[in-house]
Amino acid sequence: MKLSSKDLLGIKELTKDEIILILDTASGFKGVLKRNIKKVPALRGKTAVNLFFEPSTRTRTSFELAEKRLSLDVLNLSVTTSSVVKGESLIDTALNVQALGADFMVIRHSSSGAAHLLSKNVNASVINAGDGINEHPTQALLDAFTIKEKIGKIEGLKIAIVGDILHSRVAKSNIYLLTKFGAEVRLIGPPTLVPQELEKLGVKVFHDMDSGLDGVNVVMALRIQMERQGKGFFPSTLEYSKNWGLTSERLFKADKDAIVMHPGPINRGVEVASDVADGPRSVILEQVTNGLAVRMAVMYLLAGVRE
Ligand code: CP
Repeated sequence: MKLSSKDLLGIKELTKDEIILILDTASGFKGVLKRNIKKVPALRGKTAVNLFFEPSTRTRTSFELAEKRLSLDVLNLSVTTSSVVKGESLIDTALNVQALGADFMVIRHSSSGAAHLLSKNVNASVINAGDGINEHPTQALLDAFTIKEKIGKIEGLKIAIVGDILHSRVAKSNIYLLTKFGAEVRLIGPPTLVPQELEKLGVKVFHDMDSGLDGVNVVMALRIQMERQGKGFFPSTLEYSKNWGLTSERLFKADKDAIVMHPGPINRGVEVASDVADGPRSVILEQVTNGLAVRMAVMYLLAGVRE
């Protein structure tokens, strides 16, 4: 089986079988990453360009390492020192990168739809590394990989996503993926950040932590996306953490074996208490580790489509 598109733009566009293919392929790469020699020649001679128009720690480093582990040649465009600051458009930038022979373009951008725009204008495989408030597909894939690894399945699980759902591309991609796999997805947060109308996505909306967390198998805490918010979504950070912060006391409401996830970056003491983030139920750093294998799998499979 192959993926049906040369690009990975969002989870919305993937079938369940395609997601299973990516996760199974990632399992193989996770095995490779445990070997002494962690590099494979699979994509030798191909070139990847990382175009990060927004800050990133995990996604950018993970993609770069995944590319190097697959033996790709890697270019990192430093946007702040590129001709973007002189007014060059996204498409012109991408066409110039393509003229240098890019086979993959990994893009993070503040505008929703930026990756889709790029994919219509270049022949290279475009991978969405987060576009505005739309999607962050590789984050949802690595989250799914981690849930399957820790609990063994996704179907039938109760999974709570807590926080700023409205502005979160991680939440959107996870909602698309987890509902495709038959999980009960609960969104928890204040009505301003978790509007009731999100239930049309096939999820349950809760406006209080205790009932939302009751019996869940997975708690995914999200950062407040200050950079995408105007003012007035909640009174203050202190008020937010008092009502919506994930503390060890609140975690008692969840299943006794529940795992705690967070895509990062974490604001300790705001959306998650330090003892929870560092505690025995936290799989936050395992998510980061799994991201490497998942991104290797995505690039490997997209290369198969192009060939
Ligand atoms: N999870 C995530 O996207 O983190 P970064 O913003 O650091 O890439």
